[in-house]
Amino acid sequence: MTETAVVVTGHSRGIGAAIAHELLARDISVLAIARHGNAELAKRFGSGLHEVRLDLSDAPAVAHWLGTGTMRDFLAEAKLAALVNNAGLLQPIGPLETQDTVLVGQAATVNVAAALMCSAAFVSATRGARDRRILHISSGAGRKAYAGWSVYCATKAALDHHARAVALDRTPRLRINSLAPGIIETQMQAEIRASTPEKFPDHERFVTMKREGRLHDVKEAGQLIVELLLSDGFGKEPVSELQWPA
Ligand SMILES: NC(=O)c1ccc[n+]([C@@H]2O[C@H](COP(=O)([O-])OP(=O)(O)OC[C@H]3O[C@@H](n4cnc5c(N)ncnc54)[C@H](OP(=O)(O)O)[C@@H]3O)[C@@H](O)[C@H]2O)c1
Repeated sequence: MTETAVVVTGHSRGIGAAIAHELLARDISVLAIARHGNAELAKRFGSGLHEVRLDLSDAPAVAHWLGTGTMRDFLAEAKLAALVNNAGLLQPIGPLETQDTVLVGQAATVNVAAALMCSAAFVSATRGARDRRILHISSGAGRKAYAGWSVYCATKAALDHHARAVALDRTPRLRINSLAPGIIETQMQAEIRASTPEKFPDHERFVTMKREGRLHDVKEAGQLIVELLLSDGFGKEPVSELQWPA
């Protein structure tokens, strides 16, 4: 029986790529979902990586794919089965009157609807697993409000509250955690710096953090997140922050 198998969304770059890399480096099979593939991971790890090209902003497409049984088949033999809901969108940045409604819908669907749909399907697909774990990659923005980030803040708060409520369900052999990972140098941070103080008043703070080298390294983020995911203490609290070494 496969010991551990993990589904990761948003593995094509950034934190999701680092998480998938760390899992694969530990010989853990990964089913990875994004719109783009990750050629580097595929070349390096070959058959351990199972890639699915799926647009998580398209809820009917997500429902259709979940109905294909691909996730169920992938997880069928796992003793420890995990789902990492990592894919996320920051846009639209700016107050309501500037927000493109299509982008609002896409962010709400990727950040919340797809994650909740995958979570429900994951639990149905893992009835035979001894240990089941769901990790939402949330954000400090789900806990503290920022001007210009209303959509992002609301969607991340939704993940946190989903985890709290799921934990109360006491689903057998299921643990859940919604994790704020800290500020990590990825394309999403570049997007923040490319915005303007008019749309995002805290803009300068993020520019300064980058200039002063205060952003966390994405590879290290992947390592710490995987350590947490596989740890005995995983899911002790439904909502938490990633602990970085001092
Ligand atoms: N970086 C930070 O400082 C930070 C801080 C707190 C929380 N987070 C959270 O961490 C997670 C990863 O962020 P990141 O910084 O690594 O961002 P990123 O570099 O922009 O990567 C985002 C990932 O999400 C996937 N994704 C976006 N839209 C998608 C869609 N429609 N369908 C499928 N996949 C989609 C992308 O894949 P495709 O484009 O190939 O589809 C990509 O792999 C996000 O949930 C973010 O909110 C990041």
